[in-house]
Amino acid sequence: MKAISIGLLGLGTVGSGVIKIIENHQDKLMHQVGCPIKVKKVLVQELGKERAVPIDPSVLTTNVDDIINNPEIDVVIEVMGGVEKTKEYLLQAIQNKKHIVTANKDLMAVYGAELLSAASTNGCDLFYEASVAGGIPIIRSLVDGLSSDRITKLMGIVNGTTNFILTKMTQEGLAYEDVLKEAQDLGYAEANPASDVEGLDAARKMVILARLGFSMEVDLDDVKATGISMVNEEDLHYAEQLGYTMKLLGIAHRDDEKVEVSVQPTLLPKAHPLSSVNNEYNAVYVYGEAVGETMFYGPGAGSLPTATSIVSDLVAVVKNMRLGINGSYAVALQHEKNLKTSEE
Ligand code: NDP
Ligand code: HSE
Repeated sequence: MKAISIGLLGLGTVGSGVIKIIENHQDKLMHQVGCPIKVKKVLVQELGKERAVPIDPSVLTTNVDDIINNPEIDVVIEVMGGVEKTKEYLLQAIQNKKHIVTANKDLMAVYGAELLSAASTNGCDLFYEASVAGGIPIIRSLVDGLSSDRITKLMGIVNGTTNFILTKMTQEGLAYEDVLKEAQDLGYAEANPASDVEGLDAARKMVILARLGFSMEVDLDDVKATGISMVNEEDLHYAEQLGYTMKLLGIAHRDDEKVEVSVQPTLLPKAHPLSSVNNEYNAVYVYGEAVGETMFYGPGAGSLPTATSIVSDLVAVVKNMRLGINGSYAVALQHEKNLKTSEE
């Protein structure tokens, strides 16, 4: 069967992980989708930069048209980050009938509805599992696994960088700036780490989760976000002595037709399960009226965990291509919109 051709936008921490998984798991992928998967072109900023994976230099390009306007490319995987320019690229790719997989929560939190609508209009898939909680399949769980339930509350640690910082400051007494630097070196932090430490990255992820969990539109501007930049070593020390652990928690709940989302540093009793979620790990509690309480736990940032979600989305895209269907994360939102309209 004809190979599926991928255009990769970005070859940093996550993009390198995508290349590794596609190459190292080719047999498993072949078994899943019934054809080879080939990375045809990779967009970067600097052609001469040293890369974390061996790559044929002829595959690299600085011209995005080689991907988004290339008729040979079936799926665009976006792991370059950024919002306005990236949105423009993805809309162009969608107009050219390319399916999209992205890890970009900044983009999906602000322009998710517009991109999903464009994808749906053009018969394209748009999957974004990696945009929330790295390697944890939380979006798929909300959209598929818990689709029959009415979710009332979502709560969790959804930023790996801040959890890494709080853990190292608490358990090893390390200084805030030193641990932030370590998180950056490990590839956990955003290009601008202010969005991690000021709670904005977690706010974006909670918006994405709340939309999918509650099937309602949620505006990022309505989220009250406080980060950890004001937390000092003394705060953490006293919290420990009193039997608490400090975590940056995202909380979203719905009350009839109202949704409230917030992010703030929170003191949790040490016996609370979220207290023992350490380092770059994330965990999300989901409360459903029928299922009760469920918790999803795993690595929330980093190259291979994030790339696992991306390549699994890619598998879903290729399976949909084979079946001639599309758009699973978009369809869930659309369905409830249709239901609401027919009830009115
Ligand atoms: P990096 O900074 O490591 O990589 C970004 C890559 O994109 C680089 O290869 C860079 O090129 C390329 N790039 C950036 N801007 C442009 C541009 N304007 N034109 C062409 N190429 C460009 O980022 P990450 O891999 O860490 O993150 C990528 C995305 O994944 C972001 O949206 C991030 O929020 C998201 N994400 C990251 C996670 C993580 O753990 N790191 C986890 C989950 C999501 P060059 O190498 O030449 O500079
Ligand atoms: N900077 C993000 C974090 C990457 O630390 O959680 C994963 O989305």
